[in-house]
Amino acid sequence: MILQIMAVSAGLGLVIASLGLALLRVLRRHSIGVMLAVVAVITVAATLAGVVAVTLAMIIEGRPRNIVLTVVAIGGLVGLGVALINARWVVLASRRLVAALDDVSPSGRFVPPQGPLPAELETIGLALEQAYERLRLGQERERTLESARRELVAWVSHDLRTPLAGMRAMAEALEDGVADDPDTVKRYHTQIRLEVDRLSGMVDDLFELSRIHAGTLRLSRNKVGLADLVADALAGVEPLARAKRVRLSGEADAVLPVDADAGELSRAVRNLVVNAIRHTPADGTVSVRAVAEGDTVSLSVLDCCGGIPEDDLPRVFDVAFRGEAARTPGPYGGAGLGLAIARGIVEAHQGMIGVVNEGPGCRFEIRLPLSG
Ligand SMILES: Nc1ncnc2c1ncn2[C@@H]1O[C@H](COP(=O)(O)OP(=O)(O)O)[C@@H](O)[C@H]1O
Ligand SMILES: [Mg+2]
Repeated sequence: MILQIMAVSAGLGLVIASLGLALLRVLRRHSIGVMLAVVAVITVAATLAGVVAVTLAMIIEGRPRNIVLTVVAIGGLVGLGVALINARWVVLASRRLVAALDDVSPSGRFVPPQGPLPAELETIGLALEQAYERLRLGQERERTLESARRELVAWVSHDLRTPLAGMRAMAEALEDGVADDPDTVKRYHTQIRLEVDRLSGMVDDLFELSRIHAGTLRLSRNKVGLADLVADALAGVEPLARAKRVRLSGEADAVLPVDADAGELSRAVRNLVVNAIRHTPADGTVSVRAVAEGDTVSLSVLDCCGGIPEDDLPRVFDVAFRGEAARTPGPYGGAGLGLAIARGIVEAHQGMIGVVNEGPGCRFEIRLPLSG
């Protein structure tokens, strides 16, 4: 008997469940509310079908049968009602989430709706918050880069125009024979050559920087000994140091192999050393030190510049940043690209670069992974 009842209700249940699953599949793009309602209807239908089949077919007749059917029907209706209310809540919660999304301005912050949400919607809310935050940071970075680029173009065109005007004036004076005494002619020629050197250096820096920014800086990396690289860099700036009467000292505690593009890394080191010499007064010392620290190497350049103003410290690596308020370049004046280039090169080598004020001046430091 019991077995028969089980078989009949399980059979009917299976049929209704398959119908229900098919219906849910058809409705799978519809609201979760509709799906919950379908689930409730299926539950009620399966229960009712079983009860009706059993009561009709066998045991119960008359009053008892009506009582059973009524109780089951009311139970089903209660279940359906609760399911519908629950579905409504889910729908309302998802609408709150969508409304919160509608409130976000394109570059704004996403604030998840107040009050409790079902766990899955809460997770979606958090994910959205993080996605919007990333978007906002990206846009902010884009804006700063863009304004730095605009500023760079403005300063560079200024920096190019001034020496060009001077060269033009000197060239015209030479051409017209206005400057004809041999001393002046010689001076003008020298001056023009120096300006041409400076301008080509600047154009070269701009090209390097644009390659760094465009991500097209191609490093050809080999095992390079940092000690040799430091020695070469110091040899290269020797004339400048002698002209400024600045003492140079270099030390490295071993060969210190790094995987680097020797040309590019030398350029970064040279930019630091040239800056250090330029900002150190006569009879001051610039010392370059390379040491191994765990699995990194640290190369630092210490000068006697008297310290960089605290406010400027975080900005010295920015493109076109130059400390002096008056931005007329001095005899060795650059366009404020040297440190931006150094940072670009070091970061392309998976390294880090930084600066702190220390002792009589400041200390620029490059850290690179030690080659295995
Ligand atoms: N060794 C240093 N000592 C003091 N100030 C420095 C030093 N190196 C860089 N700075 C500051 O950082 C600025 C940016 O340097 P850099 O990018 O090399 O541009 P530039 O040398 O063309 O001015 C410099 O103008 C200067 O104000
Ligand atoms: Mg410089």
